[in-house]
Amino acid sequence: MNVYKDISIKPHNSFGIDVNAAYFSESYHLEDLKNLLTNRCHSNVFIISGGSNLLLTKDIDAHVIKICHKGIKLVTETEKEVILDVAAGENWHDLVLWCLDHHYGGIENLSLIPGCVGSAPIQNIGAYGVELKDVFVSCEVLEIETLKTFTLSAQACEFGYRTSVFKTAAKGKYVICAIRIRLSKQPHRLQTKYGDIQRVLKENNTDKNPSIKDVSEAVISIRKSKLPDPKILGNSGSFFKNPTVDSDFFNAFHAKWPKAPFYKITDNQYKIPAGWLIEQSGLKGYRENDAGIHEKQALVIVNYGNASGKQLLTIAQKVIQTVKEKFAIHLDPEVNII
Ligand code: EPU
Repeated sequence: MNVYKDISIKPHNSFGIDVNAAYFSESYHLEDLKNLLTNRCHSNVFIISGGSNLLLTKDIDAHVIKICHKGIKLVTETEKEVILDVAAGENWHDLVLWCLDHHYGGIENLSLIPGCVGSAPIQNIGAYGVELKDVFVSCEVLEIETLKTFTLSAQACEFGYRTSVFKTAAKGKYVICAIRIRLSKQPHRLQTKYGDIQRVLKENNTDKNPSIKDVSEAVISIRKSKLPDPKILGNSGSFFKNPTVDSDFFNAFHAKWPKAPFYKITDNQYKIPAGWLIEQSGLKGYRENDAGIHEKQALVIVNYGNASGKQLLTIAQKVIQTVKEKFAIHLDPEVNII
């Protein structure tokens, strides 16, 4: 196992931020990981996988370990469903494509989400009415301090909107090594209620009896039309969560901004799209040097070339402050800021 000293991790974060790791190694198997943790070159360990949810504002003073564990294994199969074990280092979208090829349904709405399988549970990735938790059975984790492995159930993962126990009580405690998911076989239960999906299925003439592949293709085309490809323009997808407000706040807000889109979650909770709030604050397409807000989706902060993490953070802070002043709503980043 190689250990690189003082090396740039620009290729390993989707913002393309050029910061150095004190030490950097890649782990390909559980045994590698145990060895690396036992013989680490620094008292601090920093685990990354796809690096697609990270804003790095400084060098990382730690032994950075990238999880590259590979493998998709069919655990059980019945007439109606399959259970798969997927290693943490598998690319998420490649997994979606693999499932489509095998006619396994459940994650087609999560097409083209950047990043690797191991980070999917951390923020309970979601798009177009589906979240990882809908197919999640459990995950295998290695406890960093004891090097013991555990299986964590969906309940133990405490999934919420773009959050889980890995972002709260168990932050920094475990390395996720694999996930176990339950997928459907035909006939699938498709999730096509999102207006955009309906529209694209119609445009593609696949709205009558869509397959999971048709849904995936619709999602891919919607995402490509709004969201920048991190290989071309550094970004980390939605930078902020959509804020939730209570009904009193919402009623006053709605009276003032009747055209604002919203989602009712419970009788007392409403979600307001952060992208709309940012656009109405006049910041869509805003740019300072190489850091800016995407011109097609205001929820995405982009690196036009050589922006530093600090410059990108300045943009995020400007967004938070401007939205707060205009709407009295606080935006919470969904990205992990280091
Ligand atoms: N909107 C604007 N201006 C913008 C962006 C959005 O007015 O610049 C409005 C839209 O017109 C729409 C509403 O806001 O009425 C919602 O927009 P959209 O459907 O594009 O979804 P979103 O709330 O911006 C969320 C997720 C995305 C996910 C999409 C589709 C969060 C933080 N983001 O975005 O997730 O793909 O829904 O389900 O929940 C990600 O997490 O990285 C991500 C891309």
